[in-house]
Amino acid sequence: MNIVNVDYDGLIPNNVGLGQDVRVKHALEKWHPGYINWWKDMGPEGFQESLVYLRTAVSVDPKGWAKFDYVRMPKYRWGVLLAPQVEGRKIPFGRHRGEDAWQEVPGEYRAMLRRLVVIQGDTEPASVEQQRYLGKIAPSLYDLRNLFQVNVEEGRHLWAMVYLLQKYFGADGREEAEALLQRRSGDPDTPRMLGAFNEKTPDWLSFFMFTYFTDRDGKMQLEALAQSGFDPLSRTCRFMLTEEAHHMFVGETGVTRVIQRTCEAMKVAGINDPYNIEAVRKLGVIDLPTIQKKANLHFSLTLDLFGNEISTNAANAFHTGLKGRYREDRLKDDHQLENATYPVLRLIDGKIQAEDSPALSALNMRLRDDYVVDCNIGVGRWNKVIEHHGLPFQLKLPHVAFHRHIGEFSSIKADVNGNLLSDVEWNKRRSEFLPSDSDREFIEGLMRPQFEPAKFASWIAPPRLGIDNKPGDFEYVKIA
Ligand SMILES: [Fe+2]
Ligand SMILES: [Fe+2]
Repeated sequence: MNIVNVDYDGLIPNNVGLGQDVRVKHALEKWHPGYINWWKDMGPEGFQESLVYLRTAVSVDPKGWAKFDYVRMPKYRWGVLLAPQVEGRKIPFGRHRGEDAWQEVPGEYRAMLRRLVVIQGDTEPASVEQQRYLGKIAPSLYDLRNLFQVNVEEGRHLWAMVYLLQKYFGADGREEAEALLQRRSGDPDTPRMLGAFNEKTPDWLSFFMFTYFTDRDGKMQLEALAQSGFDPLSRTCRFMLTEEAHHMFVGETGVTRVIQRTCEAMKVAGINDPYNIEAVRKLGVIDLPTIQKKANLHFSLTLDLFGNEISTNAANAFHTGLKGRYREDRLKDDHQLENATYPVLRLIDGKIQAEDSPALSALNMRLRDDYVVDCNIGVGRWNKVIEHHGLPFQLKLPHVAFHRHIGEFSSIKADVNGNLLSDVEWNKRRSEFLPSDSDREFIEGLMRPQFEPAKFASWIAPPRLGIDNKPGDFEYVKIA
């Protein structure tokens, strides 16, 4: 079997030799109809029969792994793809550092490992569910196609995790694979496991913010799991990261295009004050302060996904070699951290201050810090667009203590600069920081579909380049 090229002969495309692995093949084939039912029930509403110009992975070779073609989404070839095995790979961190990477689940860590796989797996279908109504209000066929690309790939990520559950975790893996199809984003009785994945994605600015901020949490988690001593998990995550890059591209360029359109419209109308919100909104574009509020919301919700700053679970996952740090293989230290410390922001005597803590317990905090650095890169690029138009406004990530529901700062209220607020002040000023009902209504009012090739809704600029180098008038979705 050729690990780089994918076997497309069976029901489930794969590069893991499913043809010779009868037990797992049958298990996945049994799971398949439930998955398709889930996709039809909870996937993009109203477009299941449309032809969508999608990329499908046909190889795991970094140079040229995908091909583009028109597909009806329920017929998309969701497959199981792992990055090629690295000969002689060692466990890169923790107490087993330097030992051969595990090809089977180490028995003593089985429960912990299963939990990591299930939590990651649960986020994948959740985002498809959150985004299922967006197609009907897409600002262009180009954006509609990008939404669906993200959706089918999140579906494939679910397959990636379900493969691990079915292959390595026996009966309880099978049960978990079923449960992944039963939970529903935002359902009060059977919600998805993590908070941000139960929020609504009601409009396209939310979608772009979600793919920028929340898919980036996905990237950080996948990077940490790609370091895992459990080799099949590492290889799965490495290939998922290839796809994930596109999701963040959709988010970053989406927000860029919204900002660009706003700035252009303001210049043409001779409006220089970004806070003249009423005048800006009359132009049919989204004012910069509202874009900032959306960023505040999505950034703060996503920070909660990193969990408690101080965490025994995180320490155990690292110490046992299951989940590493962001790009562990590029870090220069002992990779065991038993005597190391890490500065953690805490609430001490009513003040937010850094306190040195044992580095092992502070791994969530560390991953979150790496995440914030990564987030700021795109924010800098957004500000360049505003600067280029000569407008006096800068977007800024809020303080990590702002609007938190998990961890050290969940018990307090803070403004976007990290100043503590009383409950009364917070309630009074909340709509300064977060989208208000009227902000949401304004954005909702802008969300009208634009399905003519080469045309875009009033509030967003066209992209600089087409997907797969297609020209501007390309019909990315043939709506049925
Ligand atoms: Fe994903
Ligand atoms: Fe993603």
